[in-house]
Amino acid sequence: MQNARYLTAIRMRHWLCGNHSYPRTPLGGLRPGSILTLAQRLRKQAGRPPVTLRNPNLNQCHVKAKIRRRLALARKKDLYSAETQLVKALPKMAKAANDPALRAGFEKHLEETTIHVDRLEEAAEILGVSPKGKSCKAMKGLVEEGAEVMMEEGQPSLKDLALIVAAQKVEHYEIAGYGSARTIAEVLGQRDVVKLLQATLDEEGATDEALTRLSLNIIPQVAGVEA
Ligand SMILES: [Fe+2]
Ligand SMILES: [Fe+2]
Repeated sequence: MQNARYLTAIRMRHWLCGNHSYPRTPLGGLRPGSILTLAQRLRKQAGRPPVTLRNPNLNQCHVKAKIRRRLALARKKDLYSAETQLVKALPKMAKAANDPALRAGFEKHLEETTIHVDRLEEAAEILGVSPKGKSCKAMKGLVEEGAEVMMEEGQPSLKDLALIVAAQKVEHYEIAGYGSARTIAEVLGQRDVVKLLQATLDEEGATDEALTRLSLNIIPQVAGVEA
């Protein structure tokens, strides 16, 4: 019996850092300090060295959790910056598109992108942080690449195809970003945040697929073959 309590106490050591909440302790309502005391006493009785927390207030588990939270926060700030840049870029891409279906696709995704911004704000609110404060350099580069395509003169269908390529690079960047952020939120047990990120991730994936379908119509036009 004592052995079982000792093992439970040791297993619960990470609970002491305060980063994990359980509905009740498995030791019949013992407080964290009591669990540590019990673990120390039982270790002493067993002739084993005492449990050592490197720093009672900032043990290794706490540090790892802090790193994970900072990483999760950085991902969301990065995504927020990326999405706000896209809200400005997508109307220009829609205007530059020659194919009516492509233009409509960009317009539809603009509406979705404003919702993506709202979802990130909601996620930040749940976490009690600000989504602002970071500039996504990768998205800045991708948007600049798209702007170069818009300036190009030449065959309309070729320009449309170049716009699709630029837009798919953006979508793939977003899919990677949201996929990582969703996984981190899952590990941290942030269920509401996971739902928000997954909803956007699904829309980014659907947009990427829609762009692929559009390119299948446009590629034959570029090649001078009837679609
Ligand atoms: Fe988005
Ligand atoms: Fe997107």
